[in-house]
Amino acid sequence: MENSLSFEVHGPARLEGSVTLSGAKNSALKLMAAALLATGKTTLHNVPGIADVEIMSDLLRSLGCTVDYDNALQRLIIDVPEIPGHRAEYNLVRKLRASINVLGPLIARLGKAEVALPGGDAIGSRGLDFHIKGLADLGAEAHSEHGYVIATAPDGLKGAEISLSFPSVGATENIMTAAVMAKGVTTIDNAAREPDVVDLGEFLISMGANISGLGSNVITISGVEKLNPTTHSTLPDRIVAGTWAFAAAMTQGDITIIGGREDHLAIPLDKLVQAGAVVTTTQDGFRVRMDRRPRAIDIVTLPYPGFPTDLQPMAICMNAIAEGHSMVTENVFEGRFMFVNELKRLGANITVDGHHAAINGLPLLSGAPVVATDIRAGAGLVLAGLVSEGITVVEDGYHVDRGYTHFAENLRALGAEVSRISN
Ligand code: UD1
Repeated sequence: MENSLSFEVHGPARLEGSVTLSGAKNSALKLMAAALLATGKTTLHNVPGIADVEIMSDLLRSLGCTVDYDNALQRLIIDVPEIPGHRAEYNLVRKLRASINVLGPLIARLGKAEVALPGGDAIGSRGLDFHIKGLADLGAEAHSEHGYVIATAPDGLKGAEISLSFPSVGATENIMTAAVMAKGVTTIDNAAREPDVVDLGEFLISMGANISGLGSNVITISGVEKLNPTTHSTLPDRIVAGTWAFAAAMTQGDITIIGGREDHLAIPLDKLVQAGAVVTTTQDGFRVRMDRRPRAIDIVTLPYPGFPTDLQPMAICMNAIAEGHSMVTENVFEGRFMFVNELKRLGANITVDGHHAAINGLPLLSGAPVVATDIRAGAGLVLAGLVSEGITVVEDGYHVDRGYTHFAENLRALGAEVSRISN
């Protein structure tokens, strides 16, 4: 039973040593969905062995693909049939927000797609209006009905000028994967600039797509007739890297993050330096060392290159034991402060008002049972357990497994006393 997994953390602890990063969850899942654009075998390297990859594999199988994952090699091979299925059922989609990424490729290839409205993390309302409007701008008829997004484009899609009112990662990806085989030129204005979006764009280019402006806020796509299967390596996971960076700072530790890309974490690392950490570049990654109690830092989450919402729980946890007062403002997902009530069970002094959290740092928290509400909150609470006196049990730990490979093992290798308990 997925619900019965907990992480038991004995604190306080200091983390020291090195971790090797896996491929990014949020890239791998999108690359897997985009493989649907070409008949034949696409090979993805550096794919993390996490639960979400298994769910996306099942979803692709339900559409007629053959999917083989080799955990030792971190390699995934997807064989896409000439005509994949066009309906992604609720029983799989509900488990994974990124399932919505099959929408663009299916409408592009088949002229029709039916995708159940996704579930995923409980972090906010997470609308799909930009996705639907984007497809409509490309000439599809798209609406939601009986819990499904239904899109049809019997005469194919046509390039269009699309402007997003917020640089949504998912909408940028769905529009990009729909437009790659549309007739003519598409521009996406106010596009998301996340490294995951760039990775997906480069993957599409290697399939034969014509795309420019990746990483900027205007992406231009000239449609091509056909795409070919390809081989691609997923980016290292910047959110996992950021999690380890905060873990080092919070525990006054010293962690070398092998495979970490500082350029993908410029603002979070700058914040850690303000908190007192020393960040140095190493041969194959970077190192974060903290020799003092962290100083409290104000944080505002924003689309990339701003401070990522996915690291907001770690920032709050660090501020909870930092010296001084701080304010953390969440601008991306309104439900992301839900875990603060759990953190307060560890004694943290935090007041939430709308999308602001005011934090008064304490020297140490005190261990207690808490519940993980999403992947990042779960990881943050485990880290909070490391700066708590006594035992913290993080229940619903399966959330953490959705985004982190060998989390407990890595923590133990860094010197912490952490175990997984299933009951
Ligand atoms: C992705 C990531 C998630 C990360 C987020 C921001 C996946 C599966 N998830 O989520 O981990 O936290 O990017 O970097 O890759 N919105 C709308 N209408 C839409 C689309 C989005 O209102 O049609 C809103 C959302 O409710 C949210 C904001 O826009 O408030 C950002 O959403 P978006 O960037 O789309 O995030 P996801 O792609 O869902």
